[in-house]
Amino acid sequence: MRLYLVLLGPPGAGKGTQTHRLCEAFGLFRVATGDLLRRVAREDHPLAVRVRAVLEAGQLVDDATVLEVVSHYLAQAAEAYSGVVLDGYPRNLVQAQQLEDYLTRRGEAERLWVVLLDLPEAVAVRRLAGRRICPRCERVYNVDRIPPDGRCEVCGALLVQRADDTEAVIRRRFQVYREHTEPLIRYYETRGRLVRLDADRPEDPIFECLAGYVRQWLTQPAE
Ligand code: AP5
Repeated sequence: MRLYLVLLGPPGAGKGTQTHRLCEAFGLFRVATGDLLRRVAREDHPLAVRVRAVLEAGQLVDDATVLEVVSHYLAQAAEAYSGVVLDGYPRNLVQAQQLEDYLTRRGEAERLWVVLLDLPEAVAVRRLAGRRICPRCERVYNVDRIPPDGRCEVCGALLVQRADDTEAVIRRRFQVYREHTEPLIRYYETRGRLVRLDADRPEDPIFECLAGYVRQWLTQPAE
C-alpha cells in the first residue's frame, strides 16, 4: 500500500523545497502540479496558451485540466513507487473530493496524510522575492544561498526567477490561497488526516519533522 502525502501551505511555505528532499531521501514519486503546469505552459498548443495565461495571472487552472494532469502522473506512480508526495494538489474542495474518490476506488483512502506548512504571509513574501529555480530539474534556490556561478548544482542549468514571482502576482496568489485552499485545512482536520508544522524555521529541522512522519506512515499497517 502506497503513502499519499499532501503538502499544504501558502505560496513560499517551502512545499517544493521539502518535496524534493523527501522524494530523494525516501525514493518517493513527486507530483508537483505547479511544475507540471509550467511544463505544459512552455509548449506550443491552445491548451498551453490557456494554462500560461492562468499561471501569469496567479489564478487556479481549471479542475478538469488539473485532474487530467494529476491522474496521468499518479497512474505512473502506482506502478513503481512506495509513496507519492503531492505538492500543490489538491488546491480547493473540488480537487480534494476528486482525490478522495480516486483513492477510495483504489482502496487507499486511509493512506492519505496531509501536512500543513504553516507560515506567516510576510515571511513567505520575503522568501518568494528571493526565489530562483532551475528551469531544467525544477530544484528550488534562494538568492541568499545561491551557487556563485548562478547555476543549478544538480544539473548545471542557469537559474531563473519564476514569471509569477512578481509583487502583484504574489499578492493575487495569496488571495487565491485564502479563498480556495485554506478551507482544506478544516476539511482534512475534521477527517483526522492533518498535521500542522511550523514552517518559520530553517529547512533542516522542518525536514527532520517531515521525515519522522513519513517513516511512521510508510510502515503503518493497512487498516
Ligand atoms: P505552485 O508552483 O504550486 O506555487 P505555490 O503554491 O504558490 O507555491 P510556491 O511554489 O510559490 O511555494 P513553495 O511552498 O513550493 O515554496 P518553495 O519551496 O519554492 O503553483 C503555481 C501556479 O500553478 C498556481 O498559482 C496556479 O496557477 C497553478 N496551480 C498549481 N497547482 C494547481 C492546482 N492544484 N490547481 C489549479 N492550479 C494550480 O520555497 C520558496 C522560497 O523559500 C525558495 O526561495 C526557498 O529556497 C525558500 N525556502 C524554502 N524553505 C525555507 C526555509 N525553511 N527557510 C528559509 N527559506 C526557505
